[in-house]
Formats: sequence, structure tokens, C-alpha cells
Amino acid sequence: MKKDIENHIDIKLLVDTFYDKAVADESLGPIFNDVAKVNWGHHLPIMYAFWESTLLGKIGYKGNPMDAHFKLNQQIKLTPEMFNQWKTLFIETVDENFEGKIANEAKQRAVSIADLMYYKINNYYNAPGVAKEKK
Ligand code: HEM
Repeated sequence: MKKDIENHIDIKLLVDTFYDKAVADESLGPIFNDVAKVNWGHHLPIMYAFWESTLLGKIGYKGNPMDAHFKLNQQIKLTPEMFNQWKTLFIETVDENFEGKIANEAKQRAVSIADLMYYKINNYYNAPGVAKEKK
């Protein structure tokens, strides 16, 4: 029986394994490597903090995920297929390594944040930094 997601080491395994898959993925890999040219030494600790605060209630993540992806979407159009692939790889990563209450929550949170993110970046008037006056 696999264990649940319980501590920093588990979060690190989740995040590291997910990004190994994402970077190797045909559709998502180039976004991280070529478009965003991600500095992993910088990005991974942010992701550990994000998931630790989302799943384990730890304080520490101070960023704005919606804003980051709104900017990314201006560099490359993020499609429903890309979001589906992101969700598939995340769920696969959780299922391959963990099981339990928090593991289930991780999958649910990932899917709901992904769906909300897709909705927001495709809704002009919700986008940060965009003038809110109606045309
Ligand atoms: C098609 C789907 C997605 C792609 C291609 C993508 C890609 C990226 C990229 C390129 C960055 C910036 C990394 C950097 O330059 O440091 C980023 C940041 C981030 N992503 Fe995603 N992402 C996707 C979906 C998601 C989803 C669904 C979540 C949450 C469940 C998420 C959570 C985050 C967070 C927390 C950050 C850090 C933002 C900050 O700097 O505070 N991403 N993502």
C-alpha cells in the first residue's frame, strides 16, 4: 500500500516527479524549456511552497499563479489540450506515488485550479493588469 502525502519530503517527490514528466512531454516540455526558459533552481522551491501551502497548510507561498500563467499565455497560447495533458500528468504522478485523503485532495485541487486558470486566462475582463472598462 502506498503512503499518503504527509510532509515536505513527500511534496518534493510529488513536484520533482511531476516536472520530470512535464519536461519530457512532447506538448508541455517546450513551454518550460524554450518559451519560459525556466530556471529550475528558482522554480522548484516555489512549487514546493505552493503545494505545501495548498495541501499541508504551511505558510510560505507568496506568489500569484494566475498572473504567472496570464503572462505565459501572452507568450504562447495555452490550449485546452495543454491543460488536459498537465492534469493527466499530475494525476498520474500522484497515483504512481501516493494514496490517501491528501493524495485525493491533491488531484481534486490540481484539476479545479487548472480549470479555473484556463477559464480566467480566457476571460479578458478577469485578467490582471487589463483595464476593466467595457468597450
Ligand atoms: C498548461 C498548463 C500549465 C503550464 C504550461 C504551466 C507552466 C508554467 C510556467 C512556464 C511557469 C513559470 C515558471 C518560471 O518561469 O519560473 C509556471 C509557474 C507556476 N505554475 Fe504553472 N503551468 C500550467 C498549469 C499550472 C497549474 C494547473 C497550476 C496549479 C495547480 C500551476 C501552478 C504554478 C505555480 C504555483 C507557478 C509559480 C508562480 C509563481 O511564480 O508564484 N501551473 N507554470
